[in-house]
Amino acid sequence: MRPRKIKDHIYWMGSLDWDRRLFDSLIPLPDGTSYNAYLIEGSEKTALVDSVDPPMADELLFQLEGISKIDYVISHHAEQDHSGSIPHVLQKYPSTKLISTPKAKEMLIDLLRIPEESFMTVEDGEEIGLGGKTLKFIYTPWVHWPETMVTYLKEDKILFSCDFFGSHIAMTDLYVTDETRIYEAAKRYYAEIMMPFRNVIEKNLEKIAPYEIEMIAPSHGPIYPRPSFIVDAYQDWILGPPRNTVILPYVSMHKSTKQMVDHFVAALVERGVKVEQFNLAVTDIGKLAIALVDAGTIVVGTSTVLGGPHPLAVYGTFVANALRPKAKFVSIIGSYGWGGKTVETLAGMIPNLKVELLEPVLAKGLPSESDFTALDDLAETIARKHKEHGIQ
Ligand code: FEO
Repeated sequence: MRPRKIKDHIYWMGSLDWDRRLFDSLIPLPDGTSYNAYLIEGSEKTALVDSVDPPMADELLFQLEGISKIDYVISHHAEQDHSGSIPHVLQKYPSTKLISTPKAKEMLIDLLRIPEESFMTVEDGEEIGLGGKTLKFIYTPWVHWPETMVTYLKEDKILFSCDFFGSHIAMTDLYVTDETRIYEAAKRYYAEIMMPFRNVIEKNLEKIAPYEIEMIAPSHGPIYPRPSFIVDAYQDWILGPPRNTVILPYVSMHKSTKQMVDHFVAALVERGVKVEQFNLAVTDIGKLAIALVDAGTIVVGTSTVLGGPHPLAVYGTFVANALRPKAKFVSIIGSYGWGGKTVETLAGMIPNLKVELLEPVLAKGLPSESDFTALDDLAETIARKHKEHGIQ
């Protein structure tokens, strides 16, 4: 695809990765993704904002054909999906200066072996002029790694935000045209990439709040011509209260745990609590991550295997702990044959969660009437706790 004009002397470059289905060998990409770079031409100097994933380098180099000089490459983030083609750009334009934070410089040297003399590090708030285009660099750590920054183009009021506000979606729309569709993709992205750092990101939101921003140009997904759409969504995801929802990731080997899940879901619904249920054997882990953004309570359902929780329950619990959602309560339900340490194991895996552990319900074999009663009691406790904590 050829460069696409955004405004006078500002172009989208990059590539659409329609077929990619996994990121970091972990994160499902049901809609593919894009790697957005941007070219900004001042009257005196030209800057390239970020690059593309290395397998797409030729596409970026094709888009740069006819550009005789690039004075600066701005690297917002050292992760290779944005930085990985910078060595190719530096090879094509050997006198280019690579602009980054000092932390990103260290990481880019480690990850890509870029020579030290190529760099020009910038301080938080520093500006450089391209001739009629002024770039202001704003440190925004932990969106998504510690070295990240964003760039504000003052005259055009565009924020180039890299991962911050991004969405994993490949589409030919240069701008967001269907906010509902992008909301889901951006929430998935937030849940998987940003949620673990939400306390720091809250400060980054405060930091960019004073800027008049007419457009947010991320490095994944389409550009936001109405920035308040995504900024308000981030405010809600980060600061909004948890909702009256139970997230129920579960795995069942011989249907005993599944019977408990079915009963428990009905018991919660009867008490006015919404449930999102995920069979860990088949679920898209990204869907689970999205649901974790707002949930008031997490209940893990698991069979017992070799004296402990099923490995898929371990995986789901590990993911929930790593993502640090704002849930207030956790519990465990499931079935066992002859014993085991399911509760101790899972409860020991969630040190990042600031939660109260509610009394688990474990059935020996098929659940009995007393187990179903215990599930009713757990549902009652959750409904009551949600009300007491204002979780609606
Ligand atoms: Fe899109 Fe953290 O890289």
